[in-house]
Amino acid sequence: MHGIVLDGVFAQDPYPLYARLRREAPVTQATTATGTPVWLVTRYEDARTALADPRLAKDAHRLRAMLEARGNPRTLDESLMAHMLNSDPPDHTRLRRLVGKAFTARRVEALRPSIERISASLLDRIDPTSEVDLISAYAFPLPITVICALLGIPDADHDSFRSWSNTIVTNSETEEFQIASAGLVNYLTEQIERKRREPGDDMFSALVTARDDGDQLSEEELLAMVFLLLVAGHETTVNLVANGVWSLLRHPDQMARLRGDLGLLPNAVEEFLRFESPVNVATFRFTSEPVRIGDVEIPEGEIVMVSLGSGNRDGDRFPDPDQLDIDRGLGGHLAFGHGIHYCLGAPLARLEAEIAFRDLLTRFDRIELVDEELEWRNSQLMRGLVQLPLRLTPAVVDVA
Ligand code: HEM
Repeated sequence: MHGIVLDGVFAQDPYPLYARLRREAPVTQATTATGTPVWLVTRYEDARTALADPRLAKDAHRLRAMLEARGNPRTLDESLMAHMLNSDPPDHTRLRRLVGKAFTARRVEALRPSIERISASLLDRIDPTSEVDLISAYAFPLPITVICALLGIPDADHDSFRSWSNTIVTNSETEEFQIASAGLVNYLTEQIERKRREPGDDMFSALVTARDDGDQLSEEELLAMVFLLLVAGHETTVNLVANGVWSLLRHPDQMARLRGDLGLLPNAVEEFLRFESPVNVATFRFTSEPVRIGDVEIPEGEIVMVSLGSGNRDGDRFPDPDQLDIDRGLGGHLAFGHGIHYCLGAPLARLEAEIAFRDLLTRFDRIELVDEELEWRNSQLMRGLVQLPLRLTPAVVDVA
């Protein structure tokens, strides 16, 4: 066990520890909440360099063997693991190229009217005469419904799809998780057959039929890809919306500034991503040979955890880093990662967030916190609130 333990206190507020580590031990050994020894990287420059270093590998089979050797139990069915976030080149290059053919900028932009409709219908259902938990009423259902639209999941199947995926993203390592992932695998297998027979104009059909020089995704790769899109695109976007609202509530001057000029929204979204990064640490990497980061040489075969949340609060890169500033000239934050695994869904996440903040700020003249003391999820990977109870005052509509 190493001196630094990333426990529940860390999950509630990682920033004091990050600030100390960036100052005193920017590359250090630590123990995760589940007891796994890792090397933690906290400075911006080191984090960015590490994310792009091919000697920090991700291959799922080797990583799993290393985790098991360190006493971590198996959690996920092998068939759902064969995705690009778990692969190194050349597999990664091939998978990303095939998926890139289906996940085009045109397809993302074409989703705009659907996202606007989904957002409006969720907000229509909110009763502003009582307290509202923004997460369960809006931030959570929004991205999953958008993913259903992206993948062309038929309306009649939305409820079961949503229930499996909600269980999968919230209850890892439980029996319910196993049942839900088996349900989802069966369902997706049927859908693959259906999309092969009758392809639609959706991304799932495009993935089923995507080809590259005669190459295409195998059935297992397709399953794992859709599973990755679900998990990577769901939990993260929930946190972007809720963390952003929470950050504005804690900085009323910034809320007023944004309300006064919604043209600042794209920049504000980048600042929300930097300030309360939805993904706290990048997924595990391991050293395929000894790797020097800063002044520290990490031996071969060690697990490395790169902190995006810490890099994004590094004062050497972002002046006055603990201040939310939606006018900050941004660029280069690490919230979507960096290097070959840079988030594939970043354009979709940005579009969803812009629509969400525009809708919330124009529909409600006042947004207020019911409780100042909020609880963060007990997660090392994700930075997200458990609930965000709000009082919402609707904008007065001029009917004259
Ligand atoms: C605010 C929302 C989001 C955030 C903060 C986010 C963050 C990230 C980060 C940090 C990574 C890299 C992880 C690593 O290197 O260990 C990543 C990868 C990925 N994300 Fe996102 N993501 C978001 C939304 C989405 C959405 C909406 C989708 C798709 C529907 C998506 C799909 C992916 C995929 C497929 C990868 C793997 C790319 C690869 O391995 O080449 N993400 N994301």
